[in-house]
Amino acid sequence: MQTPFDLDNTTVYLRWRDHKLAHAITDTNELVVEINDPRALTASEHAALLERCRRSNMVIYASRTGNVDEDMVRQFGSQFGLNSLDANWLADEDGITRVTVSAEEGQRQAYIPYTNRAIKWHTDGYYNPPDRQIRSFVLHCVQSAGQGGENRLMDHEIAYLMLRDSNIDFIRALSAPDAMTIPERTDEDGVARVAQSGPVFSVDPASGSLHMRYTARTRSIVWKQDAATQKAVAALEMLLASDLPHIHRMRLEPGMGLLCNNVLHDRAEFSDDPDRPRLLYRARYYERIADTSSRI
Ligand SMILES: [Fe+2]
Repeated sequence: MQTPFDLDNTTVYLRWRDHKLAHAITDTNELVVEINDPRALTASEHAALLERCRRSNMVIYASRTGNVDEDMVRQFGSQFGLNSLDANWLADEDGITRVTVSAEEGQRQAYIPYTNRAIKWHTDGYYNPPDRQIRSFVLHCVQSAGQGGENRLMDHEIAYLMLRDSNIDFIRALSAPDAMTIPERTDEDGVARVAQSGPVFSVDPASGSLHMRYTARTRSIVWKQDAATQKAVAALEMLLASDLPHIHRMRLEPGMGLLCNNVLHDRAEFSDDPDRPRLLYRARYYERIADTSSRI
């Protein structure tokens, strides 16, 4: 299978690169598609959503649905071939997580997603084992924060492209199987999760599509201690701190949602309106969005 992400095939890479840059969305308004009911998309709504995902691995939908539940998210995802939910240990039983500030004491409080703090650039599930990689997710906003809580979003294929253009050794270093290690996590019962080493960039052998694992966190992550990796990580950090038009900034409002092939994203800190706390539903999947393989 020919893939543009093969470091030894410059011809295919360059062809893909030209196509990607010509079609990638740089105007955030163009990422947004208005839809009626996420549970039952019309053919033209579905086509418009898929078109954005093919170009930029993500789309933001703005729906008119007021009454939503976990089922809505599941029905929305299945229209894009997304059915294998990652049931992480904090997800509710059906694998869809309510992301909201947790008032309870306990495990949830120890994790930034369930606080109102900022979350640095990352892809979801970067700490998951290789057989449970998150290739796509849906984030649906039921209630936005009183203030703040914006997201920045960047297509991970564009991040790859920019890094490869500036120095192919950055990609080589970030593709090493020991580039990034998540140390073991322990709780009072002992080791709750074993250490996970893996690459930042990897290519799915079946589809040829690019997968990215990344976090800008400096705690709970250990980078390979060689010059090549350090330089590559610094270059990626600089890229994410830049004001490239490929970095989108937006805030999900009630009824809006993000569907993406696990692109790079962050979250600004926020403060809740006590009567209407921020609430998002999040569904993470092992599949990529159907029909979005990188075309060459
Ligand atoms: Fe995330």
